[in-house]
Amino acid sequence: MHEVARAAAGDAGGVYADIDPIVVDLGCRMVRDPPQVLYHPQVLDLIDFGEPVAVLAGLVFGFVGDAAAPARILRRISENLVTGSYLVMSRIGPDPAPPGRLRQQRALELCAQAEMPVTVRSRDQIAGLLPAACDLVAAGVVPVTAWHPDPEDADDLPQWAVLAAVAYTR
Ligand SMILES: C[S@@+](CC[C@H](N)C(=O)[O-])C[C@H]1O[C@@H](n2cnc3c(N)ncnc32)[C@H](O)[C@@H]1O
Repeated sequence: MHEVARAAAGDAGGVYADIDPIVVDLGCRMVRDPPQVLYHPQVLDLIDFGEPVAVLAGLVFGFVGDAAAPARILRRISENLVTGSYLVMSRIGPDPAPPGRLRQQRALELCAQAEMPVTVRSRDQIAGLLPAACDLVAAGVVPVTAWHPDPEDADDLPQWAVLAAVAYTR
C-alpha cells in the first residue's frame, strides 16, 4: 500500500492496523473502535487528518457482524476525514457459481471454527454500509477484478467472491 501511495506522492505516510499483533506493530481493534487507531500518537505523527487521506479496509469488515454495527463504525471513521478523502472497502460477496459457492462455504466454516466468523454481504448491503457523507465512486460495488481491469484482463470472468467499493468524502 505505502509503495503505491509513495509512487503517487513521494511524501505520503501510511499506517497499517490489524487486530492481530503478529501482522502489524500497531495491533488493535481498529474496526471496533476507530478513535483508538485514528488518535493513536504514532498515527497522528504520520497522518495529517487535516489533509485528504485514504482509508483502505481490505477484507476486514467481513469480520464485523451486524451486532457490532459496521455502518456506525464506518460513519465514525468518515467523520474524521476531510473532503476529498477516500474510503475503500473490499468484502466477501456471495459467490453465484456453485463450485465457487462450495469453496466459499468451506472457507467460511474454517473461519467460524477459528472463532473469526465472516458475514457475507450482497452488493446492495455493502453500498448500504457506506456513510451518508460519502459518494460511491463509479463503477459502484463491483467484483475486485472488475475495478479498472488491465486491458489484457478485461475478458476474465468476474470474481464475485470479493467485492470492492470506493467512496469519496464530500
Ligand atoms: C483477509 S485478511 C486482510 C488483510 C489486509 N487488510 C489486506 O487487505 O490484505 C483479514 C484481516 O483482518 C484482521 N481483522 C479481523 N478482525 C479485525 C478487527 N476487528 N480489527 C482489525 N483487524 C481485524 C485479521 O486479523 C486479518 O489479518
